[in-house]
Amino acid sequence: KGESTLSITVVGASGDLAKKKIFPALFALYYEGCLPQDFSVFGYARTKLTHDELREMISGTLTCRIDQRENCVDKMDQFLKRCFYHSGQYNSEEDFAELNTKLKEKEAGKLSNRLYYLSIPPNIFVDVVRCASLRASSVSGWTRIIVEKPFGRDSESSGELTRCLKQYLTEEQIFRIDHYLGKELVENLSVLRFSNLVFEPLWSRNYIRNVQLIFSEDFGTEGRGGYFDQYGIIRDIMQNHLLQILALFAMETPVSLDAEDIRSEKVKVLRSMKPLLLENVIVGQYKEHSKGGKAYPGYTDDPTVPNHSLTPTFAAAAMFINNARWDGVPFLMKAGKALHTRGAEIRVQFRHVPGNLYKKNFATDLDKTTNELVIRVQPDEGIYLRINNKVPGLGMRLDRSDLNLLYRSRYPREIPDAYERLLLDAIEGERRLFIRSDELDAAWDLFTPALKELEQKKIIPELYPYGSRGPVGAHYLASKYNVRWGDLEDA
Ligand code: BG6
Repeated sequence: KGESTLSITVVGASGDLAKKKIFPALFALYYEGCLPQDFSVFGYARTKLTHDELREMISGTLTCRIDQRENCVDKMDQFLKRCFYHSGQYNSEEDFAELNTKLKEKEAGKLSNRLYYLSIPPNIFVDVVRCASLRASSVSGWTRIIVEKPFGRDSESSGELTRCLKQYLTEEQIFRIDHYLGKELVENLSVLRFSNLVFEPLWSRNYIRNVQLIFSEDFGTEGRGGYFDQYGIIRDIMQNHLLQILALFAMETPVSLDAEDIRSEKVKVLRSMKPLLLENVIVGQYKEHSKGGKAYPGYTDDPTVPNHSLTPTFAAAAMFINNARWDGVPFLMKAGKALHTRGAEIRVQFRHVPGNLYKKNFATDLDKTTNELVIRVQPDEGIYLRINNKVPGLGMRLDRSDLNLLYRSRYPREIPDAYERLLLDAIEGERRLFIRSDELDAAWDLFTPALKELEQKKIIPELYPYGSRGPVGAHYLASKYNVRWGDLEDA
């Protein structure tokens, strides 16, 4: 560590993601002592700023964890002193050559590693990669580039983007982020399955009735309408975040915990799936709604969204995996913005107990008595298993109770943000939580036909009021497969 330097350049430094997530995550890593001794952080963007102006801009977003208040302000000052700014165009090789000169000054002849974080719109990905790789790569150490979705908008455009990136980079240099993979409970999925005897034997069509992957936000596009309207909820959440969770959930035991072994198992799942059919998708869009004297705007009220946009802000989908383990088990996804609550969960509903002796002792219908395992990704992280239990007393009455592992009680330490883990992994060259290009291709192949059909047929999304539970179509879709959606609020 001592003799090498690390330069981290955040391209698009004045953007929202950089301010909200990247700089705070870098500071958190610094605070924890996870960055090498010798490092510097550069912000790169078009706006002209001085180093101090950049420091001023990011200082407002740095935070300390509750249990790390000690020395926090000093640490922030020390961190900010290592932050610098370079303004330049995104497609100018000269401007990147100047950045290179500044990086070299800081690196002072030591072995240098360089990490670029592209926090920029997708139409300039390739320009930046070209300029950075031709003019500002490290000559003595590694150069890695972190990119974040959108990776195209269908199989073809994603393939084209990969081809363009690979003119300048090798696959090993590209770190495609899906920040859901950095979430604590998503990482824990494999631990839960593979290091507990009680779960893995049940993890198949023999015992599992259906699996639900649910994402819900209680706010609309708020200022991001321009981006969002080009993509819609299926590309924004399902094709990446929810599908990645599904792949981890359903994969076979990898040969080892090495990145390539895990990613190969995930690709196998994706390639065993049937592409999504239009008849298995329903789409919705939120409309304005007034509640308690307050008016909440509809999606098309966003000034950056065209008035007659058909872009879905909600979707539900049923997908299937054609392999021996999962044949016939519906995997249901549901994702939406401007709903009644915020949360992300994986719900596993188990089959009925055959010949249940206690049928008569339940107050509710039998369908509500099956075991359910819920992995709550956010907020209020936790894992709970719904079991049937005798209500204490002289009679014989059963009810459903939870074996509940609530993270905030069990692990009071604050959970690191997903970006911290992912940045650290990229620095350490750990690729397990990043998307390999064949994974990306397989993911697009599953969604591209339905996405095209939705657009060609101009399918009109079902409107739902801002703050509601979303379109009823989601329930019809689920009931087609004898599924009842779990409720994010029932914990
Ligand atoms: C992003 C999407 O990938 O994930 C956003 O583009 C969404 O639309 C966000 O709001 C949700 O992330 P998180 O970590 O807040 O659940």
